[in-house]
Amino acid sequence: MVSHDPVATAPGTDTSARGRDKKAASSRRTPNIMQKINLAEKLSLIQDHWNPRIAGELNGQLIKLVKFEGPFTWHHHEHEDEMFMVVKGRFRMDYRDHGEEHAEWIEPGEFIIVPRGVEHRPFAEAECEVVLFEPASTLNTGNVEDEFTRKQLETI
Ligand code: NI
Repeated sequence: MVSHDPVATAPGTDTSARGRDKKAASSRRTPNIMQKINLAEKLSLIQDHWNPRIAGELNGQLIKLVKFEGPFTWHHHEHEDEMFMVVKGRFRMDYRDHGEEHAEWIEPGEFIIVPRGVEHRPFAEAECEVVLFEPASTLNTGNVEDEFTRKQLETI
């Protein structure tokens, strides 16, 4: 049965035998097998642009956090589809389809998926905060290597 008494459930205040047993058992395990992520908090730690940080991993895919500003490099990914979701600000996804150039503005609360093989380039007039969801193998500049390329990503 779950106790709703805040004194009994506050950490370090439960001196009952049951409380001690619970503490001993939990200290043998890895703490926090699940940890929530606050996007605003994590994004506030990022000071630079076009440098994705790893914020989570599941099923071989990474959740990355990144800030955009200005134009990125035109590129494509041979094997990976990429999802871009805007948290704050907005950016324009330029892409080429059958030789024609298109542009789509992505606003807060919206996302876009760029299929593998499609040439694309994000562009942000002002700073834009973005969540990426893509396979761990995805290089930010895809088939291109230039000053924007980040091969080793920090975890945030
Ligand atoms: Ni890309």
